[in-house]
Amino acid sequence: AKPKVCIIGSINMDLNVTTNKMPMQGETVLGDKFFTNPGGKGANQAVAAARMGADVNVIGAVGEDAFGQKLRQNLANEGIRTESIETIADVSTGTATIILSENDNRIIVAPGANNHVTPELVAKQRELIEESDIILMQLEVPMETIVSTVKIAEASDVQVILNPAPFQPLPESVLKKTAYMTPNEIELASMKEYPMYESIRQKMIVTRGGKGVTFVENGAENVIGGHCVQVTDTTGAGDTFNGALAGELAGGTNLPDAVTMANAAAALSVSKLGAQSGMPSKQDVQRFLQEGK
Ligand code: RIB
Ligand code: NA
Repeated sequence: AKPKVCIIGSINMDLNVTTNKMPMQGETVLGDKFFTNPGGKGANQAVAAARMGADVNVIGAVGEDAFGQKLRQNLANEGIRTESIETIADVSTGTATIILSENDNRIIVAPGANNHVTPELVAKQRELIEESDIILMQLEVPMETIVSTVKIAEASDVQVILNPAPFQPLPESVLKKTAYMTPNEIELASMKEYPMYESIRQKMIVTRGGKGVTFVENGAENVIGGHCVQVTDTTGAGDTFNGALAGELAGGTNLPDAVTMANAAAALSVSKLGAQSGMPSKQDVQRFLQEGK
């Protein structure tokens, strides 16, 4: 059977505009292109895991609107199970407005239905969580949902990976009970402020963009180097890493190999515009690692 990954997280429509010039305060600029594509850290990570061959369930929510329908269909087209995605009346589907310029991306997320991914909504899916090989979450749904999901997973001995993005202060129970955390360098700096950081240091798998990934094993720091690739759009690179990592760990791959695969998957993903469009299959990743292309 395929490894089972359960993702509790956000589903957004990404509204992208490209521009040569970022608007300053009070300024209007003429941009270049506008396009929409499916996003949201939860959904992106689900697609990455599914393309790596995992059996993926998403617990989430969309609004009763056109974006919601499109996003649900998009996940289904990837072979992802969408039965545990609820449609919530009278709220809008989550959106991310993304301003893309040559050397700067700015994103503003309007959570909408993602704020309705409550502990109650997740509690209805307890069995799904218990049957999963791994749980993967991010911080675009309410913190109380993260806290309660970690409890359900612990009670049934299922490992949790938490991608602490976008960063928010984390309660001690979450810091303690997750198996792995996957901050980037900026999120890591915030986590180092926790008095208990030393005691959770061994859980950190730190993504460092083009510099690769560092993680701790048997007390020693390991580095998996970055790949030299043509960068078109880094939106979703972290999500590709997380989804691929979860898929590999769920399938029983050891940590260094899983990190190596996820790091290569993320490198491949930045070659195409949009968070999900460049996400590779497992075969793509294996070929890239063997042949460098
Ligand atoms: O990580 C990238 C994602 O963050 C985008 O797809 C956007 O929806 C925001 O949630
Ligand atoms: Na991409």
